[in-house]
Amino acid sequence: MQVPLLDLKAQYAKIKNDVLAAVSEVLESQQCIGGPKVAELEEKIASLSDCKFAVGMSSGTDAILNSLMSLEIGPGDEVITTAFTFFSTVSSIVRIGAKPVFVDIDPKTFNINPQFIESLITEKTKAIMPVHLFGQMADMDPIMEIAAKHNLAVIEDAAQSITSTYKGRKAGSIGTVGCFSFFPSKNLGGAGDGGMVVTNNEHLYNRLKIIRNHGESSKYHHKYVGGNFRLDAIQAAVLLVKLPYLDSWSEARRHNAAFYDERFAGTVVKTPYISPDCVSIYNQYVIRVPKRDELIEHLKEKNIGHAIYYPRPMHLQECFEYLDYKEGDFPKSEKAAKEVLAIPIYPELTAEMKNYVGDSILSFYSKQMHNYYKMCS
Ligand SMILES: Cc1ncc(COP(=O)(O)O)c(C=O)c1O
Repeated sequence: MQVPLLDLKAQYAKIKNDVLAAVSEVLESQQCIGGPKVAELEEKIASLSDCKFAVGMSSGTDAILNSLMSLEIGPGDEVITTAFTFFSTVSSIVRIGAKPVFVDIDPKTFNINPQFIESLITEKTKAIMPVHLFGQMADMDPIMEIAAKHNLAVIEDAAQSITSTYKGRKAGSIGTVGCFSFFPSKNLGGAGDGGMVVTNNEHLYNRLKIIRNHGESSKYHHKYVGGNFRLDAIQAAVLLVKLPYLDSWSEARRHNAAFYDERFAGTVVKTPYISPDCVSIYNQYVIRVPKRDELIEHLKEKNIGHAIYYPRPMHLQECFEYLDYKEGDFPKSEKAAKEVLAIPIYPELTAEMKNYVGDSILSFYSKQMHNYYKMCS
């Protein structure tokens, strides 16, 4: 048997005719930039995120970059964020000339630990950027309290967590802005790159729209130095086809997660902890395991897809050496980087596939125990 980490062909097979028709409609119209599909998607994503406004972007990375630019964060400013995330959370801060200030994670959720934030605030701090990792939102109440006390913006990096909730509130709707990614592997993924920013702040909404289009307030009149951060109409059309399935796909992922949770209960495999405040969309199902490298070799032999998100925390990346962090600064992030392993969780997994993944992982550890007892005897 073969179980890939993600099988987008299985998803595509079910919606192929609708996707082709939607793409063909855009091509027939030849309105490939902006237009009704982008506007419709913006309206629908704003609504399902419980936000007033949404602005389509060329990627999740550009959604974060534009958010920082629209908030007028730049050289000399500091943004507090997690050490354990995907690169573009941090690279966006650096690209606008600001300084990322890292915080360690809560080892249970892998999300930023709000306890460590306040002591890092200086007069240069302009924003906090929590990341809702693997489909579960960060602990937003204490973050929003600190932000309000110090008059800071909050940029939710919700790239992996569209529609997930914290105390019943949707990802992206709690902070000043929320940033989504439509990278194909996301719960709502396009046929290429795409992203979106949601907000309830009308002033920011207007800036986001202008900065997305070269800072143009009217044709060839540039109010700001913006970029080309526009979402393609073809991507919007594909995403509109997929959108009605999003909740059922996330539900199927939760169902698969419950299967693994039960299967691995009481074993050395540590399953993801989901806070009672949160509903996760399980963009990834990330276990913590001993002997990870050996397990990976075993999974390769068994043709089971897997990935490490993420093998190196941000404070130890070569390009951020100038920030002067060192090994040991964020022990929880460093430990997570050594132990985490994502296994297949995608909605189309069959019962047979899940059993095979569960059995293969557990058989690896029973073999380990067997060898251990043999060694001792
Ligand atoms: C946490 C996080 N932030 C930002 C991004 C960037 O999104 P994109 O790949 O659409 O640029 C991603 C996507 O991989 C992500 O997982």
